Amino acid sequence: MQAKKYSIDKTILKRDKIPNHIAIIMDGNGRWAKTRGLPRIAGHWAGAETLREIIEFCSDIDIKVLSVFAFSTENWKRPYEEVSSLLNMLLYYFKKEVAKLDKNNVKIIVSGDWRVLPEKIVKEIDKSIKLTEQNSGLILNILLNYGSRQEIVTACKKICEDVSQGKIRMEDINEDLIAAHLFSCQIPDPDLLIRPSGEIRISNCFLWQIAYAELYFTETHWPDFKPEDLYKAILDYQNRDRRFGGIKK
Ligand code: FPP
Repeated sequence: MQAKKYSIDKTILKRDKIPNHIAIIMDGNGRWAKTRGLPRIAGHWAGAETLREIIEFCSDIDIKVLSVFAFSTENWKRPYEEVSSLLNMLLYYFKKEVAKLDKNNVKIIVSGDWRVLPEKIVKEIDKSIKLTEQNSGLILNILLNYGSRQEIVTACKKICEDVSQGKIRMEDINEDLIAAHLFSCQIPDPDLLIRPSGEIRISNCFLWQIAYAELYFTETHWPDFKPEDLYKAILDYQNRDRRFGGIKK
């Protein structure tokens, strides 16, 4: 572990209690921009810069998976200009940042219905996934055109189809089978879900996967969220007593 660039005392982190998977709902970009008299998209750009620092820090402290909610199935309800600027910004980052992420051994995966996005974005995402698929470091899971209810509906439909075609029996349906039909089938469930910006809700993010995640909310807007804030969240997590429905040993 080498969290050198930050004013963080890494020795306080309990190595055996580092969360495997951290999920973040990157909220508050719009409000961050508004308080500065800037257009909302400026908040998204600032949020993307925050993400860069957070990825670096997660790699430094050996987090296995970082999931970030970048664009939800509900975000299409926003004005056309904002959606289009956000998608252009994502395209820019996929083009500009992925080589660096690859160099840092980050493996990119993307969860959601992203194949319906404009072709140039789909192409860049495909390229990024391919380029980084052999990497063994941090898994960066970008939730893009993702909605958890939709994910569960799709899984149910596929399972029903398999039952009706006789590929599986009703009795074979269990939690593992459902989990195997979700986008997250290759990664562990989140241990820690963080939502900055003062909203205390989940907003259709990982409804199945967070059954036993520890939740952490902070007032800080995402663009102001620093590695020090993540460190604080992890310290808080390390003091939680996770019993998974059992009792303390
Ligand atoms: C929610 O804040 C944020 C988003 C909908 C976009 C988040 C996307 C990024 C930070 C960019 C990520 C970049 C890559 C390359 C994955 P909000 O606009 O809802 O904030 P508000 O609640 O204050 O209005």
